[in-house]
Amino acid sequence: MPFDVIAFEVGRIYFEMKFSPHLILLTLLASLPGLNATSSSPTSLPLRPTPVPSPYNHGRSHYVSPPRTKTCYVTALGGGKDDSAGILSAAKSCNNGGNIALLDAQYTISRPLDLTFLNAVDFIIEGQVSFTPDVNYWSTNSFQYKYQDTALFWQFGGQDVNIYGGGTLNGNGQAWWDAMASDSDVVRPILLGLMGLKGGSVSNLKMKNPPNWFNFVANSSDIIFDSMTLTSASNNSNPAHNSDGWDTYRSDAVTIQNSYVSNNDDCVSFKPNSTNILVQNMQCINSHGISVGSLGQYIGEVDIVENIYIYNASMTTSSDAARIKVWPGISPSSTSTSSGGGSGYVKNVTYNGMHDTSVNYAIELTQCYGQKDLTLCNQYPSSMIIEDILFENFSGTSKKYDPTVGTLVCSSPHVCKNIVAKNINITNPSGKTAKWTCKNVDNSTLSINCA
Ligand SMILES: *[C@@H]1O[C@H](CO)[C@@H](O)[C@H](O)[C@H]1NC(C)=O
Ligand SMILES: *[C@@H]1O[C@H](CO)[C@@H](O)[C@H](O)[C@H]1NC(C)=O
Ligand SMILES: *[C@@H]1O[C@H](CO)[C@@H](O)[C@H](O)[C@H]1NC(C)=O
Ligand SMILES: *[C@@H]1O[C@H](CO)[C@@H](O)[C@H](O)[C@H]1NC(C)=O
Ligand SMILES: *[C@@H]1O[C@H](CO)[C@@H](O)[C@H](O)[C@H]1NC(C)=O
Ligand SMILES: *[C@@H]1O[C@H](CO)[C@@H](O)[C@H](O)[C@H]1NC(C)=O
Ligand SMILES: *[C@@H]1O[C@H](CO)[C@@H](O)[C@H](O)[C@H]1NC(C)=O
Ligand SMILES: *[C@@H]1O[C@H](CO)[C@@H](O)[C@H](O)[C@H]1NC(C)=O
Repeated sequence: MPFDVIAFEVGRIYFEMKFSPHLILLTLLASLPGLNATSSSPTSLPLRPTPVPSPYNHGRSHYVSPPRTKTCYVTALGGGKDDSAGILSAAKSCNNGGNIALLDAQYTISRPLDLTFLNAVDFIIEGQVSFTPDVNYWSTNSFQYKYQDTALFWQFGGQDVNIYGGGTLNGNGQAWWDAMASDSDVVRPILLGLMGLKGGSVSNLKMKNPPNWFNFVANSSDIIFDSMTLTSASNNSNPAHNSDGWDTYRSDAVTIQNSYVSNNDDCVSFKPNSTNILVQNMQCINSHGISVGSLGQYIGEVDIVENIYIYNASMTTSSDAARIKVWPGISPSSTSTSSGGGSGYVKNVTYNGMHDTSVNYAIELTQCYGQKDLTLCNQYPSSMIIEDILFENFSGTSKKYDPTVGTLVCSSPHVCKNIVAKNINITNPSGKTAKWTCKNVDNSTLSINCA
């Protein structure tokens, strides 16, 4: 029996074997993605990253995914044809322990994709997943939620899901920003939704130009985002809108780390009922800051944001670096249910190590959000308590309101407790002593110059 050394490539899989021609043929047939969608030897796939919260953690053990035992390859249809059905069927076939591999250069999603049934799967995205910029279609076909009228192209939920691979999610936001010029209420989908996911990681991906927020993490727990690159920029005079990097809502134990965000809204925003959230080693460019809130907007609702730790963030040309925004109370005669008056609390939030470059405010804490009339704010103080807040180790520069570098405004001294600022060194272009606006806040624990 003659033995040959044969090397050949099938798609992305490279074989070099020293076997009989019969065995080669069998191996080849079993490995061809088109002939057999599942394979038990995903050796050609990139290794799954195993991001863990570091250097800080939120005090819980992080979930661990078992290895995946099968792989479903999704072949891109190409030519702008919709790949959502292919992705859905791969997700069903390889659910409960498999990989869903998107290894082609370009996938298109033009139909809503509901992936909330997942259990123990990895999505490996090496190329670009692009969402069709059909503003009218998505306005009625995206997944829609009541909270802040959010809409989604696709949604991931279930348990134990990892998404990674070095690829790009492209929201093609320009079409929506252009549409907003004539209709500011146009439905604009969020680029990635984790909806009811318990245990998950999203890492080593690029995200660009979302019509709305980049990431919405809702009803989820034990999630880590690591090594993400988020960029949003308009090509014309219609600016990008609401391009928040991450919004957490009704979620617990979420880590966001080692990531770069260039946008023009919040870098990260902690919305109602965000608990045990850790954000560290971040670079945020042009953002509105790493923000708690806004909270307390709706009468009768109870909003809780608790145990938030932000460590080592560089904030460049941001409107704010550290930000806490809470609505005040509302006059009993008011008929509005959405301009303050909600209750709850913001408790145990630490910003440790913010490195600012030309920000407007290094710290903006307000309990008078949405109420320009300070007298009215003080007359009807917030029903949401802000307590146990620490701002420590801030350095860098502030520019716009020189010499004022930050502002801390509570609606009454009774509803803001234990607000501490330590080792804050923010300088101005003018070189004048930095000034801070402080209202209704105990300044004995603030080592800043309350002017
Ligand atoms: C703007 O144009 C550049 C270059 O053509 C492109 O890479 C980018 O995706 C465009 N941005 C938007 C929001 O469409
Ligand atoms: C979260 O879960 C609640 C309760 O099941 C549900 O009403 C809501 O639609 C879910 N998602 C969002 C974004 O609120
Ligand atoms: C802070 O974060 C940056 C990334 O933005 C990273 O390069 C640096 O090593 C981190 N520093 C510390 C002390 O963790
Ligand atoms: C947030 O938690 C509080 C306390 O458990 C609850 O009353 C409130 O309804 C929750 N809000 C949301 C939006 O889930
Ligand atoms: C405050 O939050 C931090 C970090 O999220 C956590 O480690 C700590 O235990 C919390 N403190 C209290 C008193 O709950
Ligand atoms: C701020 O930095 C100092 C000096 O590096 C360090 O001792 C302190 O623990 C830091 N603050 C926090 C909250 O970690
Ligand atoms: C504050 O920062 C400036 C500019 O980086 C530096 O020159 C100065 O020594 C710092 N002051 C303190 C007290 O650390
Ligand atoms: C704190 O507030 C008191 C009373 O308003 C004021 O006299 C004092 O100068 C302030 N201290 C600082 C450090 O800003």
